[in-house]
Amino acid sequence: MIASIYNQGIEDRSATLETQLRTPEERAEWLAARGPRHPVIVAVDTEGTVVGWGSLNSFNPRPAYDYVADFSIYVDRQQRGRGIGDALLSALEIQAAALGYHKLVLAAFPHNKAGLRLYEKHGFQRVGVYHEQGRIDDRWVDVIIMEKILPSLT
Ligand SMILES: CC(C)(COP(=O)(O)OP(=O)(O)OC[C@H]1O[C@@H](n2cnc3c(N)ncnc32)[C@H](O)[C@@H]1OP(=O)(O)O)[C@@H](O)C(=O)NCCC(=O)NCCS
Repeated sequence: MIASIYNQGIEDRSATLETQLRTPEERAEWLAARGPRHPVIVAVDTEGTVVGWGSLNSFNPRPAYDYVADFSIYVDRQQRGRGIGDALLSALEIQAAALGYHKLVLAAFPHNKAGLRLYEKHGFQRVGVYHEQGRIDDRWVDVIIMEKILPSLT
């Protein structure tokens, strides 16, 4: 389900600069390669079916950036708008603080209304816009950069 939900986001062209669809096998390798500071979480419905996932990702491998995480959130197309993204982001923020991260950052398309609303609701601030940062389907796309300093647990 993680692969198919990710592929929906890729196909929508509203979520990511990624354009290459994934297979369950590729996602299994992706999962296996992750360390304890880069968890993947899932949201499940009452029958245990995965309806969304989120991950804390390395922002930059240089040690000075160890306190910053990038993150991903993807919700099944049929399940969007029901609070699942909200719940996943809350859980990611708690995990990130517990893992000692100081800040979360993200990049979102200006036309990703659901994503931008979700991040603003959680207190993320706009840092700026990378203009014409990527090229998808023969068109330049801008990317909004956002950040949130996490509460210190110490
Ligand atoms: C972005 C995404 C993760 C949001 O998750 P979700 O479960 O659909 O969102 P929620 O139901 O938790 O809603 C969160 C907020 O966004 C708002 N929202 C949801 N869909 C919206 C839409 N299409 N347009 C505007 N606002 C929207 C909700 O109303 C809610 O705000 P509110 O509490 O003030 O009403 C989900 O839509 C998704 O997976 N999209 C495709 C992948 C993607 O874009 N990932 C993010 C990449 S940056």
